[in-house]
Amino acid sequence: MFLKHLECSSCGLQHDWSRLQNLCTSCGKPLLAIVDLSVASRTLKRDNLATREKSLWRYREVLPLPGDIEPISLGEGGTPLLRAQKFGHDIELWIKDESLNPTQSFKARGMTVAVSMAKHLGATKLAAPSAGNAGGALAAYAARAGLEAYIFMPRDTPCANIVECRELGADVTLIDGLITDCGAEIARRKTKEGWFDMSTLKEPYRVEGKKTLGYELAEQCGWQLPDVILYPTGGGTGLIGMWKAFDEMEALGWIGKKRPRMFAVQATGCAPIVRAFEMGEKSAAEFPNAHTIAAGLRVPKAIGDFLMLDILRQSNGGAVAVDDEEMMKTAREVGSKEGLFVCPEGAACFAALKSLRSAGKIVSGERVIIFNTGSGVKYVEYYKAQLD
Ligand SMILES: Cc1ncc(COP(=O)(O)O)c(C=O)c1O
Ligand SMILES: [Zn+2]
Repeated sequence: MFLKHLECSSCGLQHDWSRLQNLCTSCGKPLLAIVDLSVASRTLKRDNLATREKSLWRYREVLPLPGDIEPISLGEGGTPLLRAQKFGHDIELWIKDESLNPTQSFKARGMTVAVSMAKHLGATKLAAPSAGNAGGALAAYAARAGLEAYIFMPRDTPCANIVECRELGADVTLIDGLITDCGAEIARRKTKEGWFDMSTLKEPYRVEGKKTLGYELAEQCGWQLPDVILYPTGGGTGLIGMWKAFDEMEALGWIGKKRPRMFAVQATGCAPIVRAFEMGEKSAAEFPNAHTIAAGLRVPKAIGDFLMLDILRQSNGGAVAVDDEEMMKTAREVGSKEGLFVCPEGAACFAALKSLRSAGKIVSGERVIIFNTGSGVKYVEYYKAQLD
């Protein structure tokens, strides 16, 4: 076991990992897992990864589950990094295709780790608010673990996500409101109902699963991080997780000091991080009247806002908003040029690439990574509406 303790990302207070924890008991901010990297590095070597299983559990020593406990796994991670064929002709563009994960999105990465730990620490009823894909992933891993899942989603969540959660045996409640209203409903009821709150960054291990995006990327890039990363940002867990992975890998001696410029991509109808970044704020105010087809980007207020903003600035990156029409138009362009039916969130990154390129914030010859975080199939009613 290589996990030392949990540490508050804001005040630094240490918490015990061996019991179920949500937020910092002193300041209410997210807790992050601190791994004993010098002990982990005795068995986890950069050069022995290729001989290990393909799933993200190949980074076992830097993940939080004790070594003798079997993870709750559906074969997540190990997704392809594809060289773009036609898009971004004068840059070196790569697409990390996360739609090949179980339940067709990168949310599987966070949930395999978080559900494994929740079960290990004795939780039996898991609750989460979801924009759609996280709900499907929680439902799948909870079913696999023999635990109950309670999922709260906005009523207008894409139909496939709702049906998927139900078919996977979850208890689904549709709320007339946004993901923040779903989270508030769980907070109100969780003690009485005996639910463990699995909201992203309100428990410490979904971000640990998401950090494997960073480990995998480095591995697939031959341990040379790219110049730029474009990440479709809702709660920002992947962004925060990757940054943590980069620091861990530097401490392990696997990579150097160079970091990619990190760009958060949001929708014009819900861009709290873009607005806060442009205004020079350290945290982001709730975005009013949040609306966008990209359900995963419809997060008007994120608890990890201050962490994201810090990363964007430290990395010399930025934040870009894309409107829905542009997103959907770009999705079709990616489909026909690259052979990938991307989710609107992924399409937003391709649209953002165009605007960053014409603004000179990405220059010719740079190596750029786009995350296609999920499959377009989940949003089929929106894509069909474009045809009607
Ligand atoms: C397809 C997709 N992309 C991106 C996101 C945003 O992810 P994060 O919360 O890590 O910012 C989500 C979240 O629901 C999503 O479903
Ligand atoms: Zn704290």
